[in-house]
Amino acid sequence: MTTRHFQWIEVDDYTEMSQLASAIFEQQLIQKPTSVLGFATGGSPVGFYKMLVERYQQGFFSFADAQTFNLDEYVGIDPLHPTSYHSYMNQHLFKHIDLPGSQRHLPNGLTQNIRAECERYEQEILRSGGIDLQLLGIGVNGHIGFNEPGTSFHSKTHVVELADATRKENAKYFPSKVDVPTKAITMGIDTIMNAKRIVLLAFGEHKTEAIERLKREGTSEEFPASHLKEHPHVTVFYGK
Ligand code: PGA
Repeated sequence: MTTRHFQWIEVDDYTEMSQLASAIFEQQLIQKPTSVLGFATGGSPVGFYKMLVERYQQGFFSFADAQTFNLDEYVGIDPLHPTSYHSYMNQHLFKHIDLPGSQRHLPNGLTQNIRAECERYEQEILRSGGIDLQLLGIGVNGHIGFNEPGTSFHSKTHVVELADATRKENAKYFPSKVDVPTKAITMGIDTIMNAKRIVLLAFGEHKTEAIERLKREGTSEEFPASHLKEHPHVTVFYGK
C-alpha cells in the first residue's frame, strides 16, 4: 500500500508561504543537486521565486546540475513576448541563476506540430528521470497547470482550450481579455501526478473556495486538483 503524506499548511501571510515553499526547493537542491524541478507561473509563485533567488545569491545552493520543466505555455505567443511563460521564467528566475539554458524546459507554443511537441515534452520529462519536486498553483475552478474541469486524470502533455474563467482570470496580464490566447500546451494530470513530490500554493480570498472544495470534495474530474489527494506526497500552503 502506498503511504500518503498530504499536508495542509495554513500561513499567516504571503511572505511566510513564499519562504516555506522555497525552503523545500532549497533542501531538494542541497540533497540532490541534479534534481528535476517542475515549475509554475502566475501570481502565486512570484514571492517564492524572489526568495529562491535570494537564497541562491547568498550561496546556499546551485542550479548548475538541475533541470527544470514548466507546467505549461500559451499556444501562438512568441517566447520573447512579455506575456509568455518563457518570459515570466526569465524575469523571475532564469536570468538570476546558474541554470544552463539547455537544462530549462518549457513547451514550445509556436510549434507547427502541436501533437508532436506534446509528445516530445512528455518524452523529455521521462528522459530526465522524472520530476522530483513540482510546484503548482490552483485555478479558481480547480485547474492545475491548464488542466481545466473535465480533463481526464490519465492525461499526458496535451493542448487545451482555455476555460472562460481562466481567460478572465489571466486577462490582467494582457491589454484585454480578447488578447488572452485561447489555447495552451500543458502537462497532463497524469504527468503532474508522476512527480515524486508536489507543493501547491494558494493565497488570497479568491482561492478560498477552491481550497475549501479541495478539502471537502472527493476526487472528480470536474475538479482537477482533487486527484492530488491520491498522490503520495503533497504539501498545500494556503492563506488569505
Ligand atoms: P495564480 O494562478 O498563481 O496566478 O493565482 C494559479 C493558477 O491559475 O493555476
